[in-house]
Amino acid sequence: MLLTIQALIFDMDGVITDTVDRHFQSWKQLAHEVGLEITPEHRDQFRGVSREESLHRLLNGLVISPETKQDWMRRKNMHYLAYIASLTPADILPGVVDLLDEADAKGIKKAVASSSRNVHIVLQKLELIHRFDSIVDANMIRRTKPEPDLFVWAAGSLGVTPDTALVFEDAQDGVEAALVGGFHVIGLGSARVEKAHVALPSLEGVTLDALRESLSKAEIRG
Ligand code: BG6
Ligand code: MG
Repeated sequence: MLLTIQALIFDMDGVITDTVDRHFQSWKQLAHEVGLEITPEHRDQFRGVSREESLHRLLNGLVISPETKQDWMRRKNMHYLAYIASLTPADILPGVVDLLDEADAKGIKKAVASSSRNVHIVLQKLELIHRFDSIVDANMIRRTKPEPDLFVWAAGSLGVTPDTALVFEDAQDGVEAALVGGFHVIGLGSARVEKAHVALPSLEGVTLDALRESLSKAEIRG
């Protein structure tokens, strides 16, 4: 049972800012360059998973050398960096800053846990980097989502246990990772987040009191 919320752990891409399409467009650019087939379904399949796993899903069984893999991931990231160069605080998704402010007012800690290696650059552009007590990314952890390691590390770095922390996720793989880790999970957006304890269209207008109430109801429903 969730008695007190001691920490909020945010996924970044698709939760703090909507970079999902920028990731997809970058893969699309690479796919066109190297002659791979890419479909609209890939957009959600790339959500939450690492660069390596995204490429694996795009390759769809095609075998390429480790050198070519590295080269293609480097090229995708170059395209991605060009796309995110224009990010500004106006790209922060609705409700995020209000939730961070509410957490501060209540003495609740905040972390980011993301499968991306571009977390610092994105958070800097959004001018949010100093708002988190801990930032855990794919540069620090080998097993990214759907494994729970990123979230468990984030909770540990904040000194809280998973059962006192809320995780915000927009990806099926991310929701699974947080559930396996024993967190309370808030699924956001239109992708497959229905396994989360509470699923919401976005964080707009969301307060911690409302979340606590929704989680208690979800618990009663079992
Ligand atoms: C996740 C995104 O946050 O980071 C994925 O949801 C992305 O789509 C992954 O593949 C890795 O990102 P990056 O920035 O290291 O290529
Ligand atoms: Mg995400």
